[in-house]
Amino acid sequence: MAARALRGAAISFRADPFRVPAAEALQHWPDALLVIEAGEIASIAPWPGAAPAGLAVEHWPGALLCPGFIDAHVHYPQLPMVAAPGEELLGWLARYTFPAEAAFADPDHAARVARLFLRELLAAGTTSAAVYGTVHAASAEAFFAESARLNTRMIAGKVLMDRNAPPALLDPPGGGIAESAALIRRWHGKGRQLYAITPRFAPTSTPEQLAAAGRLWAEHPGSYMQTHLSESPAELDWVRQLFPEASDYLDVYRRAGLTGRRAIFGHGIHLSEGELCHCHASGSAIAHCPGSNLFLGSGLFRARQARREGREVALGLGSDIGAGTSLCALRNMGDAYKVSRLAGEPITAAQAFWMATRGGAEALALEGRIGSLEPGREADLVVLDLAATPLLGFRMGLCADLLERLFVLMTLGDERCVRATYVAGRKVYDREEESVLF
Ligand code: GUN
Ligand code: ZN
Repeated sequence: MAARALRGAAISFRADPFRVPAAEALQHWPDALLVIEAGEIASIAPWPGAAPAGLAVEHWPGALLCPGFIDAHVHYPQLPMVAAPGEELLGWLARYTFPAEAAFADPDHAARVARLFLRELLAAGTTSAAVYGTVHAASAEAFFAESARLNTRMIAGKVLMDRNAPPALLDPPGGGIAESAALIRRWHGKGRQLYAITPRFAPTSTPEQLAAAGRLWAEHPGSYMQTHLSESPAELDWVRQLFPEASDYLDVYRRAGLTGRRAIFGHGIHLSEGELCHCHASGSAIAHCPGSNLFLGSGLFRARQARREGREVALGLGSDIGAGTSLCALRNMGDAYKVSRLAGEPITAAQAFWMATRGGAEALALEGRIGSLEPGREADLVVLDLAATPLLGFRMGLCADLLERLFVLMTLGDERCVRATYVAGRKVYDREEESVLF
């Protein structure tokens, strides 16, 4: 692929703003030249820098170049039922989610929704995600096929469930493992695709299925494991009844060999100190899904507590569509602030942007590839328009510094701010153009 260069203001994290002051953690170029070669960032330096001779420069005045956002927890098959109100988690699953997921028995439906989902994701500036399919292997197949077409770096997997769901959505008892293994062989490490073994959550798997998932994960180093953990109080009660031998919710997964680096746990709202310690010690990550916390009323995640010095837990930001209601990382950052405020430990804009970029990459063990603007990283980035609406432009003009602008952006901003999105150096979305890719 031909080299290209982008010019504009840019940000990227070099350290964790939960640990060091924001100004130290955040690197800011008021005007940068970012050179892309072979799909990777070759250099980033203050403009005019040393652009290779003859290279056309795409200039983005008034915009902010940011690493592509990372969604650490999302269900693509729930796009057709997003915004379904009025139930807490378990009732919501039974009433809206399972019927919507049953439709994925049809591979054409899966292909249509995968296409719409990835288009919406890129239009919101998110370039990587950890994605749940349904129990149908074809749902993962359809997702990977579309992601491969777009060359997006995605983690995904077929859901495993062998109890407590409608019969049409169940694997055979203890099953779904051979299908998952076949998907790993077919997709894990193919181009930018990565596989996650995906038991939905403890209540919908027998201990036998969880243990089989753990064995499969151990057999495939480098693959991922994603599931839900400690989301709603009713769910916690149910897990205690179903797994009386476990000392706590996380212990159910630990016993099955499902904790460790590349394990991504959605939610983790009600974790005890002991469970957080085990996440830290094992390298397991939490995907904080603030929009979903609010929409289902599941509780208020404490991000600062999760990042407590000395036993910090890897932490990303998840949209959790369809329990969350927006794929837009800016909106989810805004929600993260509101959740943190209600939880009594407000986060900063730098902490929110970190969770959606560098922190998310660390949570997904991909920090060497994505999540920051550094030479050698894959060139996934979003161009944010800081004057996308008259109010936003007006309010930005009154900000004293970058951190204030970032806070305003995540509070007033939404997908209208996404001017363009690049994946591995290729522009895949442009707000002002009908994209050739969709
Ligand atoms: N717990 C088990 N399944 C789900 C799901 O689909 N969404 C959410 N938010 N929580 C879950
Ligand atoms: Zn979820």
